[in-house]
Amino acid sequence: MATYENLLLDLQNGILTITINRADKLNALNIETIQEIRNAIQQVYDDSDIKAAIITGAGPKAFVAGADITEIAELSEVTARSFAERGQEVFAMIERSNKPVIAAVNGFALGGGCELAMACHMRVAAEHARFGQPEVNLGLIPGYGGTQRLTQLVGKGKAMELMMTADMIGAQEAQQLGLVNHVVPQEELITKSTEILEKIMGKAPLAIGLVIECVNAVFNNDENGYQTEANAFARCCTSEDFVEGTSAFIEKRKPAFTGN
Ligand code: COA
Repeated sequence: MATYENLLLDLQNGILTITINRADKLNALNIETIQEIRNAIQQVYDDSDIKAAIITGAGPKAFVAGADITEIAELSEVTARSFAERGQEVFAMIERSNKPVIAAVNGFALGGGCELAMACHMRVAAEHARFGQPEVNLGLIPGYGGTQRLTQLVGKGKAMELMMTADMIGAQEAQQLGLVNHVVPQEELITKSTEILEKIMGKAPLAIGLVIECVNAVFNNDENGYQTEANAFARCCTSEDFVEGTSAFIEKRKPAFTGN
C-alpha cells in the first residue's frame, strides 16, 4: 500500500480506515492532504480487497477543522478557483464511490471538515463532535461543495442560517437536522461505523453501488433519476448476485454474493 505523509491507512476485513493525521493542526486539510485523500480514494476504487471505507481524524479533538487557513490566506482569484475545483473533484470521487464510505466524526468538523463528512455516504458522530461552516468569519464561503451538500442534507432555511451565522452545532442537533446518521460515545465510533459497513458488505455489492448512483442522481439536474433507477434496476437483473439472491430466498438459505 502506498505511503502517505498526512494520512494513516489501515485495511482490515475489507474496510479501509483512512485517518487524517495532522492532529497538531486539528487535521486541517492542506493541499497535500487533499491530494493524498484523492490517492487513497483511488485505491478504494481500484483495489478489489477494499470493500468499504471509513474516513476519520487523528486524536480526540478534531475530525477536520477545515481547509488549512495558512494556505487559504495566500490564494488569488485564479488559484482560489482551481483550489475549490480541485477539492470539489476529490470530494465528488468520495460521493460517487460505488463502495460505501462512512465519515466517523471524532470531533470538530468545520469548513472543509464538514464538507468532507458530507461527501461521505453517511456520518457517524462522537457525542462531542461539533459541526459548522464558519467560512464567513474569514470573509469566505464554503468552497468544497458545502453550499450544495449542506442544503441537500438539512434543507434551504437551516443551511442558510448555518452558513450565514457561522454557528457551530453539536452532534445531537446535527442528528436532528439529518446531517448525522448516528451519535455514539467516542469509544464506539469506529465499532458503530464498522457494524454498519459490515451489514452493507453482506448485501450484493453491485446493488449497493447502484443505490449510491441512483440517490446521487436526485441531485444531478442533468439526469432523470427515475430513468437512472429503471436502468440500474434492469442492470441488477442481469447479475449473478440477482440469481443468487432470489434463489437463496426461495431455498430458505443465506445468499453468498460475489459481486458479479
Ligand atoms: N487551518 C490551519 N490551522 C488550523 C486550523 C485550520 N483550519 N484549525 C486549527 N488550526 C491550528 C491552529 O492554528 C493551532 O495551531 P498552532 O498550535 O500552531 O497555533 C492548532 O491547530 C490548534 O488549534 P487552536 O485554535 O489552538 O485550538 P482551539 O481548541 O483553541 O480551537 C477551533 C479549536 C476548531 C475552534 C479553532 O482551531 C478554529 O476556529 N479553527 C478554524 C476553523 C475554521 O474556520 N475552519 C474553516 C476554514 S475555511
